[in-house]
Amino acid sequence: MSTLTARQLLPSFAPTGALGKKVDVLVVGVASSDDGVEIALAEGIIADDLLSEVLDGLVAVGATGKAEQINRIPAPAALDVESVVSVGLGSSEKIDAEQIRRSAGAAARALTGVANAATTLSLLDLEAATIGFALGAYSFTEFKSASPEPGSAGHPVEHIDVLTESPRTQATKAALSRAVAIAEAVATARELVNTPPSHLFPAEFARRAKELGSAAGLKVQIFDEKALERGGYGGIIGVGKGSSRPPRLVRLTYSCGKRGAKKVALVGKGITFDTGGISIKPAAGMENMTSDMAGAAAVVATIVAAAQLELPIDIVASVPMAENMPSSTAQRPGDVLTQYGGTTVEVINTDAEGRLVLADAIVRACEDDPDYLIDTATLTGAQMVALGNRTPGVMGTDDFRDRVAAISQDIGENGWPMPMPSELRGDLDSKVADLANVTNHRWGGMSAAALFLKEFVADGVEWAHLDVAGPAYNTSGPWGYTGKGGTGVPVRTMLAVLEDIADNG
Ligand code: BES
Ligand code: MN
Ligand code: ZN
Repeated sequence: MSTLTARQLLPSFAPTGALGKKVDVLVVGVASSDDGVEIALAEGIIADDLLSEVLDGLVAVGATGKAEQINRIPAPAALDVESVVSVGLGSSEKIDAEQIRRSAGAAARALTGVANAATTLSLLDLEAATIGFALGAYSFTEFKSASPEPGSAGHPVEHIDVLTESPRTQATKAALSRAVAIAEAVATARELVNTPPSHLFPAEFARRAKELGSAAGLKVQIFDEKALERGGYGGIIGVGKGSSRPPRLVRLTYSCGKRGAKKVALVGKGITFDTGGISIKPAAGMENMTSDMAGAAAVVATIVAAAQLELPIDIVASVPMAENMPSSTAQRPGDVLTQYGGTTVEVINTDAEGRLVLADAIVRACEDDPDYLIDTATLTGAQMVALGNRTPGVMGTDDFRDRVAAISQDIGENGWPMPMPSELRGDLDSKVADLANVTNHRWGGMSAAALFLKEFVADGVEWAHLDVAGPAYNTSGPWGYTGKGGTGVPVRTMLAVLEDIADNG
């Protein structure tokens, strides 16, 4: 089975200074202001007299500038395109990068069946418009036997000309390829998350991680079940042993080749399906547990993109992969396992499996002596109870936690800092082992899971833990640049944090 490259999953983009001949649809942004509706930054692209004709036409079919509202009109004969699509940007007073991404994404979703589009949204913010269009155009069709032909209804838009004042400069080309690389990383993570558990099991996930990593020039090491057993990875073995499809640990290494470069460890939860194990989950909604490897997918996509962007830092990703199944070989509630590094854990609830595989990977990651460690996981339902479906919880060491959350808000993934109240730690004490994997109550479940992980993070490492249980997988309707299914969260947060470390240490 082959792996589609992310480039094939997204439209192509080209910078341009004027409307080309082959453009079918021109996408403009419209904003609301005190003076009514206005078209944002299209002077010079659309001649002044045509601009008012286009605006009148859009207003006549209902355009108000409301955020993400889509309207479409046939283009005036003098404008060399078939139709003009407007997308709302909200109030002209506060059009930020995230609004541009969301509006571009909504426009891209409305452009199915269109071969060539052009947009002026890039005149507001080229990177935001490109990322929004790319992600809005993503769809997962691998398992549709009748997928629409290019250019026909239902097929995503194929090419987008991004209008800019300086199409030929190095800076523009660099900005565009950076935006496309970021979008490709998100699409790669989405593709892995959307691949059903029948087709993505630990060995296959490891194979795909290796294929992606090798293509990006990373060093890739795969531990199979025998190597994990020999190495003492009791958490990964314990969680994986109920499945006929054995677990893996994948390690991907990117070295920038610069002396004194900062070193960042990434760790992602890769449960290819989470039934809960013997502590089995209810049937309703269990199918969504195909997303329980979203942290791992994001980590793989992030390190690959960091290598492509040649970030001047060293990165090692440790990605544990297992399928959490009930069977006669599964671990039992009450079993005691020995994590990598020697800590013993009483497994009171086999559905709290993510922390067990992460603990092994975190201890291994810390042996490399990283300056920073970021782990991410669809770890707790409690994340959704606390913060809803779109807001990752960020925990960890104080300064780095706040830095990661601030960056996450800046790029539109909106991670929020959460505490790890120390009084919860005692509730993880076990009568028989060093630790229990759950508390005996529901309170602060997201923080309790983070406190469990904290036990395995080496002293002196700046650490951030991102719980993306809700944000990684969209089970409701599409919005902005986010379709149904895998969202790619928190790829853009992690990439932006890596860039920030590269710039500021
Ligand atoms: N994978 C789940 C968490 C999850 C829930 C992710 C909903 C996405 C959506 C995790 O392994 C789990 O089952 N956590 C338990 C922990 C509990 C047993 C302490 C939970 O949240 O119920
Ligand atoms: Mn679980
Ligand atoms: Zn899980």
